[in-house]
Amino acid sequence: MKLFDVYPLFDVNIISGKGCHVWDDKGIEYLDLYGGHAVISIGHSHPHYVKMITEQVSKLGFYSNSVINTLQKDVASRLGEISGYNDYSLFLINSGAEANENALKLASFHNGRSRVISFNKSFHGRTSLAVEVTNNPKIVAPINDHGQVTFLALNDIETVRKELYKKDVCAVIIEGIQGVGGIKIPDDSFLKQLREVCTETGTVLILDEIQSGYGRSGKFFAHQYAGIRPDIITVAKGIGNGFPMSGILISPIFKPVYGMLGTTFGGNHLACSAAIAVLDVMKEEHLVDNAAKVGNYLLNELKKIEGIKDVRGRGLMIGLEFDYSIKDLRKSLLYDQHVFTGVSGTNVLRLLPPLCLSMDEADDFISRLKNVL
Ligand SMILES: Cc1ncc(COP(=O)(O)O)c(C=O)c1O
Repeated sequence: MKLFDVYPLFDVNIISGKGCHVWDDKGIEYLDLYGGHAVISIGHSHPHYVKMITEQVSKLGFYSNSVINTLQKDVASRLGEISGYNDYSLFLINSGAEANENALKLASFHNGRSRVISFNKSFHGRTSLAVEVTNNPKIVAPINDHGQVTFLALNDIETVRKELYKKDVCAVIIEGIQGVGGIKIPDDSFLKQLREVCTETGTVLILDEIQSGYGRSGKFFAHQYAGIRPDIITVAKGIGNGFPMSGILISPIFKPVYGMLGTTFGGNHLACSAAIAVLDVMKEEHLVDNAAKVGNYLLNELKKIEGIKDVRGRGLMIGLEFDYSIKDLRKSLLYDQHVFTGVSGTNVLRLLPPLCLSMDEADDFISRLKNVL
């Protein structure tokens, strides 16, 4: 059997990793400014993470959600403490799209409505509801297209207000920082007003922090720059440092009912041990502060480089916009300079390194980038 060919691949076979570096099968070392698509939060193969998962799988890898799982409670209490959301509840699933599915479903159970407001250039995943609220017609199949979603311009509060005052909107879903859309940051004032209008109209505010959360922006959640509290926050990617896992943080306004949400694999023992290890390391090694410090440094240094049209981002979520397609630039970075980077659209280079990136590694990246500009 061959693989279903949906990914355009780089000709590199990565077989090991350590911190912010990975190695291919020929022994070539690469600097990882991509984090396997924002997934590697605490660094590749962190010893505490390896130990926790290894010990857990040798005891018990999985049991179902029909029995007490104290590891889930442990994830919830640590996550509540580090994020400042102690009073919220946690529901665990397996992927980002699934987190958004459950967030939207919960919102609809709560207020009985079904229209959703999402934003131009948004990305929320590829499953049924998640892809429907994603602003990319190319990946929305006819079976997903129910016409329930209105896409509006980011930062245009008056248009949002007009729609929400029709009082038929179930939820607004918005990324803490748009990733796939090109590292676009919603204005703090826009988020504050959005929070107010959602409350006034009984609309659920869902913050998709799947890419921008878990410390990446230099705060635990990107929306915390605006000082708001959403009704539901979705997390994935960095939560398990590569172990497939996701969650939704749920405000106390939602009342749980047995059976309203459910999953076979979500919150399993092995996933929880990965998530606990991640939170341990984030706290112990002050990785949110590190993302803020090294991210600010990178942003400032990158802004000094001529030939880059725009440099934007927060913490270690950075976009470099060029006047031209960066396809060849990205290839040169990978094959000549041995640096992994990401992309948004055609012209934006996206940096999403592990949150443990050091100042020396940031300097190393800048000099490798200058070599190809
Ligand atoms: C903001 C955002 N939401 C949702 C998703 C979907 O996550 P997953 O691929 O784990 O389903 C992504 C993935 O890139 C994302 O960046």
